[in-house]
Amino acid sequence: MTDPFGRNIDYLRISVTDRCNERCLYCMPEGYKGWAQKADHLTAAQLVAIAAAAARLGFRKFRLTGGEPLLRADFLEIARGIGALPGLHSLGVSTNGLKLAPLAAELSRAGVRSANVSLDALDPDLYRRITGGDVARVLAGIRAAQAENIFVKLNCVLLRGQNESEYRPLLRFAAEIGAPVRFIELMPLSRDDALGASSILSVAELRARLHAESPLEPLADYRPGHGPARYWRDTATGAHVGFIGAITTPDFCESCNKLRLTADGKLRPCLGRHGELDLKSALASGDPAALEHLLARAIAEKPEDHTFNTDYAPARPMTALGG
Ligand code: 5AD
Ligand code: SF4
Repeated sequence: MTDPFGRNIDYLRISVTDRCNERCLYCMPEGYKGWAQKADHLTAAQLVAIAAAAARLGFRKFRLTGGEPLLRADFLEIARGIGALPGLHSLGVSTNGLKLAPLAAELSRAGVRSANVSLDALDPDLYRRITGGDVARVLAGIRAAQAENIFVKLNCVLLRGQNESEYRPLLRFAAEIGAPVRFIELMPLSRDDALGASSILSVAELRARLHAESPLEPLADYRPGHGPARYWRDTATGAHVGFIGAITTPDFCESCNKLRLTADGKLRPCLGRHGELDLKSALASGDPAALEHLLARAIAEKPEDHTFNTDYAPARPMTALGG
């Protein structure tokens, strides 16, 4: 379906849980108490019903995110249900990778074809400082996923003064394992005290720095996974390097192709705006047409762009929104 700005919306990102086994600096808003409450998650059947309604409207790409999606005990059931939808083009997962190694084979069998793995640093101490987790487990998860023919992309959030030493090593690692790496501009979704304006590093600045060290060649037609990154090839390592500059790229929103579903059942037309449509009563009615109606409305109400640069203040963490 096409939105009012001519964009074809065929990609649904589904947050299956707001819980996480990491604590990334950039993910938690100040004083967030959501995790103290009991989880209010849609069931696997509800998630599959929503995805099925989306598929009937022409959605072809689905990504399961969180929080950490692999924490859900019924994750494979969700993946299998969505993986079997007619017309499906791709089913991916966004994960911190901690639980990827033991699950990789089953994920592949359930129909998961790609995994976006967060990797903000390779250095174990730095990785722990930023995320609270153990990078060795993540690296084992990445290799296990690749061994199961799951297409891996690496995600690194740019944090000035915190992980700048890691960008070159990440390029080398990406080239070594044959996975694209994407550098993501920090979005204002977290605590001001942890990450103020001084942490922000633009993709343009990073690209210029990397290019000065070894030329980057544009890869105009390379778009793995239909995400918002624009890619270059690093001539020193051969790595495919993508940049997601949601904050500083003026035409960033023009190629947006997605809606988000939050873990508690709200459709979010734009990550950078607070507007949401609640699907709970449509789910309770048991009427599949009611879900289709709300999905179509979310597309019709999709704003032209985000408001990160003006008046956006985080109310819910990335973890609840489907990063
Ligand atoms: N800014 C940019 N990226 C973020 N992510 C989570 N929070 C933020 C933020 N504030 C990223 C994670 C993960 C992806 C799902 O979203 O690093 O790679
Ligand atoms: Fe967890 Fe992802 Fe948030 Fe990190 S960014 S705390 S891995 S949900």
